[in-house]
Amino acid sequence: MRAERPIGIFDSGVGGLSVVKALLEQMPAENFVYFGDTANVPYGNKSVPELFNLSRRTLAYFTRREVKAIIVACGTQSSNTLPVLEKECPVPIVGMLKPGIEAALEVSSKKYVAVLATQATVNSGAYTREIKNRCPDGKVLEAACPAFVPLVEKGRLEGAETVLEVKKVMDGIKKEPFDTLILGCTHYPFLTKLIKKELGRGLNLVDPASATVADTMRVLRNLNLLRPDNISGAHHEFLVSGAPESFLEVGRLLLGDVVDKVQKVVL
Ligand code: DGL
Repeated sequence: MRAERPIGIFDSGVGGLSVVKALLEQMPAENFVYFGDTANVPYGNKSVPELFNLSRRTLAYFTRREVKAIIVACGTQSSNTLPVLEKECPVPIVGMLKPGIEAALEVSSKKYVAVLATQATVNSGAYTREIKNRCPDGKVLEAACPAFVPLVEKGRLEGAETVLEVKKVMDGIKKEPFDTLILGCTHYPFLTKLIKKELGRGLNLVDPASATVADTMRVLRNLNLLRPDNISGAHHEFLVSGAPESFLEVGRLLLGDVVDKVQKVVL
């Protein structure tokens, strides 16, 4: 049955687990294959051609695995390569950017949105471009946070070093009067507590994961490819290109027992 085929989800490492969390909440019956490209993490300092090589290799692998759809659970790939990948991919492919932007513009009353993202995402200018397309009078502030991904990959969600790095970025932006903040990299939702604390004021915090999963659900429903809710025994696979042990340890810290087995693959 075509609906039984898994959804392919990928990121550079553990970050995409924030999207898996939303997937488990919103579409618990779905089978999925998660790929964390940990041999190549971080993606945020890669050039655009390097990002294309990595994403095309992952897409080729998912195609061999006959996935029914792909979630690009990575802000960096969503902002740099997705518009081209959409044209090449044989199955529906959904990214983080548009769902996150739409969710942010819906809640922002000032239409002043800040985006935390990787350097490669900021360099692409995609957030500013897409927000301005939808809201020409809107204002966008993008801030790169290169220290965050290595910290989350090590499972360091608190502690002096992480507090310092989060504080550094928040101190640089918190005087600006934006009312909405997009977590434009899938690793960052795991630092939400600290980010909120260091910003020190109330605002709309948007994790694009749930809107991205809702988008995926809509696409699958339109194609009649949703796995029925009343079927149990969903199958979850966690694959990495680097060391499985560290992904297992940090994955369990971030997502719990659902990360029960991690295997290394050579794509
Ligand atoms: N989590 C990814 C993103 O959303 C990749 C981060 C990285 O590897 O630098 O951008």
